[in-house]
Amino acid sequence: NRIAVLVSGRGSNLQAILDAIDGATLPARIVGVFSDKPAAAALQRVEPALRWSASPKDYASREAFDAALGDAIEATQPDWIVCAGYLRILCDAFVERFRGRLLNIHPSLLPKYPGLRTHVRAIADGEAEHGASVHFVIPELDAGTVVAQARVPVHAGDDADALAARVLEIEHPLLIAVLRLAVSGRLAEQGTTTTLDGH
Ligand code: GRF
Repeated sequence: NRIAVLVSGRGSNLQAILDAIDGATLPARIVGVFSDKPAAAALQRVEPALRWSASPKDYASREAFDAALGDAIEATQPDWIVCAGYLRILCDAFVERFRGRLLNIHPSLLPKYPGLRTHVRAIADGEAEHGASVHFVIPELDAGTVVAQARVPVHAGDDADALAARVLEIEHPLLIAVLRLAVSGRLAEQGTTTTLDGH
């Protein structure tokens, strides 16, 4: 059960995976952490030998960057590849290369609010509920089969940061629940949607 993780930022979801592995609630190992941001704090959460990063600006095209990223990932022979706060859109060829074992955690109740700034948009629309989804990645952005979701209430007076913090708290157990399913061999792209309730 080999897991590769793609990150761009702070890596709290990566940390949740590391903690679950350490606590023996997730029988797996991290075989690599990959980033499009060499300075990402997330990279520091694992030993140097597990880190790979590069700057897209050093590559001629999105396809060239994703090919290099894909080669580095493939070299670690992962069973599952998890985008956990990876903020760069993956090109179609990359998605096809890893399709069926490529998961993303997205901070909204998909199909609502694909894309960026989900918390701001949910508040602006007066949503009573918001949350997070883990889904299979397909070429269309945030549109693959949803594996599981967790929801939280939106409180009167919430700003985007308050709501983001509430969502982040349920992202971590949600991601671990899905990865437990994945490593147990019970997760396939045609799987049904599960709901894990937040608070
Ligand atoms: C999370 O909200 C994730 O859903 C998203 O970006 C954030 C990443 O947080 N798309 P972290 O880097 O895992 O702390």
